[in-house]
Amino acid sequence: MKGVIVGAGQVGLACAYAMMIQNVLDEMVLVDINHDKLIGEVMDLEQGMSFVEPTLIKAGTMADAAGADVVVITAGAAQKEGETRLELVQKNVEILKKLIPDIVAHCPEAILLLVSNPVDVLTYAAWKLSGLPKSRVFGSGTVLDTGRFRYLLSRHLGIDPRSLHAYIIGEHGDSEVPFWSQANVCGTPLYYDGMADGDRQAMDEIFQQTKNAAYEIIRRKGYTNYAVGLAVTQIVHSIVRDQNRVLTVSCVVDEIFGVQDLCLSVPAVVGRTGVSRWLNMLLSPQEEKLLQHSAQTLRGVIDQIEF
Ligand code: 2OP
Repeated sequence: MKGVIVGAGQVGLACAYAMMIQNVLDEMVLVDINHDKLIGEVMDLEQGMSFVEPTLIKAGTMADAAGADVVVITAGAAQKEGETRLELVQKNVEILKKLIPDIVAHCPEAILLLVSNPVDVLTYAAWKLSGLPKSRVFGSGTVLDTGRFRYLLSRHLGIDPRSLHAYIIGEHGDSEVPFWSQANVCGTPLYYDGMADGDRQAMDEIFQQTKNAAYEIIRRKGYTNYAVGLAVTQIVHSIVRDQNRVLTVSCVVDEIFGVQDLCLSVPAVVGRTGVSRWLNMLLSPQEEKLLQHSAQTLRGVIDQIEF
C-alpha cells in the first residue's frame, strides 16, 4: 500500500511519524514546497527505521506519488491564535487549485483525504476540483474531535475511551455537535432527561473543552499536531486494511435537513473504496436543529468561495 502526504509541516510530519511507527503503509512519499527541509525530515524518520517495522519513505514530488492508494493533504496555511478555521478558507482554496489537478493527474485511482483547515470546506473544494466520485474524497472532519471527546469523557468516568461510544458530528469547528442522545457506556446513556444538574454541567463542560481544544493548544504551543496525526493514521489504516470502521469523517452530502450540497462529518463506513456509506443517525430534535445549523454555516462559507 502506497500513501502520499502533501505538505510536510507540523501536521504532515505528525501523520508521517504516526503512520511509520504503526507500519500502516508499505511506501510513503512526502511532498513539500521546501524540498531541502523535507529531505532533512525524511532522513530523520528513516534513521528511526531500525526500531520499527520498515516503511519505505521518500522525499519526492507528485511524480513519485504515481500509483498511490491514498493521498493525505495537509498543505496550507495553518490557524493562528484567535483565528477560526473558517477564516482560513480562500487562502487554502487557492493552494488546492494548484495541487488538485497535479494530484489527480498522477494518482487517478487514489482516495483523497483532506486534513488542512477549514477541513469541511476544503474537502468540498477538493471534491469539486478533482471530479472524483464522492466516495473517494473526504476529510478528517471530527474524527479528531470525537477522539478528544472520548478522551475527556473517559478521564471523567474512569473508563477506557475504547469502551465508550460517543461522537462529535457536523463542522470540525465552532458549530460542531455532540451526539449526546447516543452517547453511552454499554448501553447506559451519558446524557439524559432527568440527570442530576451537576452531572449535566460536567458533561456540558467536557463538550466545551472538546470544541475549544485546538484554540487552547494553539494559544500555548502555536499549532496542534500529535492528536491529528493519530486521527489521520486511524483513517488511513481503515482504508488500507479495508476495516470498514465507522468514523466521523467529513463526507460529501447531497442533502441534510434541507441544506444541500456540502461536506460535514457524519458517522461513515470507511474502507478500501473510501466512504461506502454514511449512517442514518437517530438524532434528537435538538440535535437535528444543531446539525442543520452546522450545515447552514458550512453551506454559507461554501457560497463565498471563488473556484
Ligand atoms: C485541530 O482541531 C487545528 O483543526 C486543528 O487541532
